Amino acid sequence: MKVTVVGAGNVGATCADVLAYREVANEIVLIDIKEGFAEGKALDIWQKAPIDLYDSRTVGATNDYSKSANSDVVVITSGLPRKPGMSRDDLIGTNAGIVKSVTENVVKHSPNAIIIVVSNPLDVMTYQAHITSKFPRNRVIGMAGILDTARYRAFLAEALNVSPKDIQAILMGGHGDTMVPLPRYTTVAGIPVTELIDKDKLNAILERTKVGGGELVKLMGTSAWYAPGSAAAQMVEAIVKDQRRVFPVCIKLEGEYGIKDCYLGVPVILGKNGVEKVIELDLNSEEKALLEASRKAVKEVMDVLEKLG
Ligand code: NAI
Ligand code: 2OP
Repeated sequence: MKVTVVGAGNVGATCADVLAYREVANEIVLIDIKEGFAEGKALDIWQKAPIDLYDSRTVGATNDYSKSANSDVVVITSGLPRKPGMSRDDLIGTNAGIVKSVTENVVKHSPNAIIIVVSNPLDVMTYQAHITSKFPRNRVIGMAGILDTARYRAFLAEALNVSPKDIQAILMGGHGDTMVPLPRYTTVAGIPVTELIDKDKLNAILERTKVGGGELVKLMGTSAWYAPGSAAAQMVEAIVKDQRRVFPVCIKLEGEYGIKDCYLGVPVILGKNGVEKVIELDLNSEEKALLEASRKAVKEVMDVLEKLG
């Protein structure tokens, strides 16, 4: 199996490192536009192999997509990250151009790949990659839901003083402040979370989750990379190993949840064909209203992209 990660910055290099460490693919190619950057990161990860005992081979390339030829999965992380005071949507102009040109190269060299988009604004960059690639929707998906759900699970684990392993949860909607956490579908080892935590505490965690990315930007001056890199790697692993894991993933909705032609995070089954199935939850009226607000917010940014041409 061959996996390419485009963008050897914070998220891309972390993703490649996790893929190598977990031996998800035997060949992992890192590509960046900055001269020597991807080669350096790939070499560093390869030199860690004798210490951490893995044999995935990592290769770097400066804008040379021939090295990535016939990849099974391509992760796109190239683009500007957020700085303090910026929203994810502020990145649209620059990142849309980058994602478009990267996707054109991916299509040319890896026409059968499954594309996982990470660049922000996530839902709209997934849209950009989808229209540029013209691949079927199950092969162009975005990573955000696993990260947002992980933040929610981590906050809950801390508040309840239990292992994060035992928190099962799902989050839907766009990757932004309108994301839709679903406490009704959150359990701690099967126990509904509402039986273990009071409403106010849970609400505070839900609100913190919605601005979880911004909290890290404020602390570090740039956006996060460890959890995002691992989240993208987890999606790659589910595809490469045909695990049929159930994750929230950004995909073009074609009537599911009563929504058409919008890219939103929804629970899916992830396997060797990318999205094998979109799972439709039976949302209540409050959850439906929140999802509709999220759809509107994403659609507004999709419209900005369309105006940019
Ligand atoms: P970074 O600045 O550390 O890395 C980005 C890399 O992309 C740089 O090395 C840059 O040289 C490269 N690049 C730029 N244009 C390129 C091109 N045309 N071809 C190849 N490489 C190119 O940024 P970081 O922190 O890795 O973030 C990357 C993106 O991921 C940002 O847009 C960020 O907002 C997004 N992100 C998304 C998350 C999500 O949940 N979906 C979570 C965290 C970050
Ligand atoms: C995050 O949520 C900024 O999208 C990035 O960390």
